[in-house]
Amino acid sequence: MEINEIKDMFLSLYGDNGEELRVFVSPGRVNLIGEHVDYCGGPVFPAALTMRTAVVARKRKDDVIRLRATDLDVCVEAKLDELEQYKDKLKWGDYQLGVALELQKAGYKLCGCDLLYDDTVPHGSGLSSSAAIEVSTALCLAVFAKEQAGDTTPIDMVEMALIGQKAEHNFIGVKCGIMDQFASAMGKANHAIYLECDTLKYETVPLAMDGYKLILSNTNKKHALGDSKYNERRQECSEGLQVLQTVLPNIEHLSEVTAADFEKHSSVIENEVVRRRIKHVVTECERVRESVKALKAGELVKFGALINASHDSLQYDYEVSCEELDVLVREARKLDGVLGTRMTGAGFGGCTVSVVRADMVEEFIRTVGAAYEKEVGYPASFYISEIGDGGREIK
Ligand code: GLA
Repeated sequence: MEINEIKDMFLSLYGDNGEELRVFVSPGRVNLIGEHVDYCGGPVFPAALTMRTAVVARKRKDDVIRLRATDLDVCVEAKLDELEQYKDKLKWGDYQLGVALELQKAGYKLCGCDLLYDDTVPHGSGLSSSAAIEVSTALCLAVFAKEQAGDTTPIDMVEMALIGQKAEHNFIGVKCGIMDQFASAMGKANHAIYLECDTLKYETVPLAMDGYKLILSNTNKKHALGDSKYNERRQECSEGLQVLQTVLPNIEHLSEVTAADFEKHSSVIENEVVRRRIKHVVTECERVRESVKALKAGELVKFGALINASHDSLQYDYEVSCEELDVLVREARKLDGVLGTRMTGAGFGGCTVSVVRADMVEEFIRTVGAAYEKEVGYPASFYISEIGDGGREIK
């Protein structure tokens, strides 16, 4: 919905009391490369999308928070001093209340408010619709809290990202890394973010994709992080790390293991599955570093090859792909002008990202779309991704 339409809907749902309506937005993200390495301290390379969550918000004079969405017939009403009791009880609204609770734990004195959410990031698509909700909520509630306290210091967007991640860990129960919330909070139009997840050191890199477009292909198979094997993969990584630390006592994160280290020491990991998981992490970290160099040097063909290698590693070694994603990847690779294609996000459904020559985009959508529908039985969706800014208030 357009922002003005969301405001109109806000007034018709909550009524008009003359108080100012404020608007906060935060985007979804596409990860270009660096998958399932953020929670191993590794480097990632995501970019914020223009698809976003928008929150229209108005302060209240009491300590009640109310949540509604433009596309759902639901109203969640909670008292700010009782947030904990909503855990595991809500069909919708848990990201928001989880964020509110984490802000309180961080010392923010929250102010009651009415909020209306509108999302353009497709849910369950692996494009971080949840991070978009978390970061927009954190920003809105933190801005209101600071205003109420007369605190004029600026909001720290990295802190907002970390609050979102904590909500995900403690309220939702997914032990996610920091990539999604960081990209949503810190994105920059037409740039990707090279982020080192062990230190949170980052650099924005211009996405100069001369003559090429990033195409997102959505399997329309919902991925469910909690149900999926996400936490299990994290566990396998910490198991592998512990074993490697017996021969590499100075490493703290898997991202510090070089390909040469791994080759030399991989046999200490007796569990073959865990060994493959670690192989993915080690090789993926190297691919990210190579990708950033390639992109800076304008070597798109090399960038594309690294993207392809990333998918293969996720498919065979990390085993987080699925048939639907693999069909999209296989069909995309058949076409001329496709430099690289891979699953993006947690996997088990969701989207692929492909680097496609601009004059091939229509054919890509037509051909890959037809082959997918024939094989899978229902259609995929396609988006030409535009890279936008991170979380902010719209005045
Ligand atoms: C999800 C998580 C991220 C990251 C990716 C996989 O999106 O939220 O932290 O681990 O999966 O790269």
